[in-house]
Amino acid sequence: MTDATLQRLFHLRTYGCQMNVHDSEKISNLLYHAGYRATDSADAADLLIINTCSIRDKAEQHLYSDLGRLRDWKGEGARRVLAVAGCVAQQEGDSLLVRFPHVDFVFGTHNLRFVAAMASAAERGSRTARVDETDSVERFDLPQRHPDFGGESVGRAYVTVMEGCDMFCSFCIVPTTRGREISRATAGIVAEAEALAASGVREITLLGQTVNAYGRHDARRGHAEERGTASFSQLLRRLAAIPGLDRIRYTSPHPLFFDDDLVRVHAEVDAVCPHVHLPLQSGSDSVLTDMRRRYGRDDFRRTADALRKAKPDIAITTDLIVGFPGESDADFRDTLDLVRDIAFVDGFSFKYSPRPGTSALRLDRPAVPPDEAQERLEELQSLLRSLTLKAHRARVGGTTEVLVEGPSRRGGGQLKGRDPYHRVVNFETPEGLSAPKAGDFATVRVVDATPHSLIALAVS
Ligand code: 5AD
Ligand code: SF4
Repeated sequence: MTDATLQRLFHLRTYGCQMNVHDSEKISNLLYHAGYRATDSADAADLLIINTCSIRDKAEQHLYSDLGRLRDWKGEGARRVLAVAGCVAQQEGDSLLVRFPHVDFVFGTHNLRFVAAMASAAERGSRTARVDETDSVERFDLPQRHPDFGGESVGRAYVTVMEGCDMFCSFCIVPTTRGREISRATAGIVAEAEALAASGVREITLLGQTVNAYGRHDARRGHAEERGTASFSQLLRRLAAIPGLDRIRYTSPHPLFFDDDLVRVHAEVDAVCPHVHLPLQSGSDSVLTDMRRRYGRDDFRRTADALRKAKPDIAITTDLIVGFPGESDADFRDTLDLVRDIAFVDGFSFKYSPRPGTSALRLDRPAVPPDEAQERLEELQSLLRSLTLKAHRARVGGTTEVLVEGPSRRGGGQLKGRDPYHRVVNFETPEGLSAPKAGDFATVRVVDATPHSLIALAVS
């Protein structure tokens, strides 16, 4: 046992996408292995790490205001260590150390494994930034979950299958912050999934910036055998054969990499959930060309149709950007039409945010005035809300299977979880039935619908 007086405590704040959430799990696990333990309280912490996001300017500004507020935190303890990780760290590197003298160390998205060494060097007064990129698959070789570190959620887990992005969409900073596409060997992924299933995990979500591009470079270069990478659909089939793993999800795929076999997997493999998050970004062909998405509206529609043909009840959700440079009112109407036509079950929508180093900055297109972009966003969001409500209402009266996450925000003893379609379900357990625990499956009957969730009653 570690002496409690020597036990270092860390506090980790996470912004951004699922990759960041999972990177934070990896950072936490590494720190557990180095003898640290987590705390929810910044005041109690010896080490405070901010895992940052830079997908839009707002996310980046969040870090700067957070760092401003942390000057006092740092000043209050002689040995307190403050670190910045994630996408802003990767993008800004040691300039963060110059701009914020109270930051002790900075580590990028390829350098998670150095966290403990950097923290102890920082305690001895060193101030460093490690943001070198590596094309080595070594970065996937992380220790197994520490027995005291349970992960962020019970019954569910993320598994990284590939990292980086080579698509270079003109608006997107990810290829800069996450580097080149690299796929992890299938055997390592399967071994991790088996260990998770053996520890009680029932649902895994495969992660990658363009997750269904998994293995494509190795296959194209004739390296697949040597690197041990199957195709993405083969990988899904292998994982589905693991006993105890009831649900497999993946995020985020790129519409370009839905080959026939991946579509077939949705028809044939029960463990693969009937939900695909398929980012459309825009429904206008000319905007899609300027965004460098490499598909048109008809290609996207064909992919959605193929998925629906394979799995008629599949739920398709999306990401959309409004106000991209040059987007006319007619372009925006094209987006609304396609969104309505595809009938997404849900979607995230954003105003275009210019990002450093992206090629959209060099496009010779007029900027969309902020008021107009705001109006478009609101119109799109209202359409998406109505589609979600319609999809939710169509579920009333049916039964579904919920993987329980814990208490619902609605209070009153309600529980919350997700169904196979990735819909949030809030449900009550009638008297006489014992309430399920986090990590259990519950069968529920849907009794009502809101734009945010399904309301249900447990039936077993
Ligand atoms: N501005 C606005 N939204 C963006 N996204 C990515 N880059 C930008 C940007 N520069 C959105 C896309 C992507 C989601 C994760 O974030 O819709 O799919
Ligand atoms: Fe960004 Fe495009 Fe890569 Fe997605 S596919 S991470 S939007 S560059």
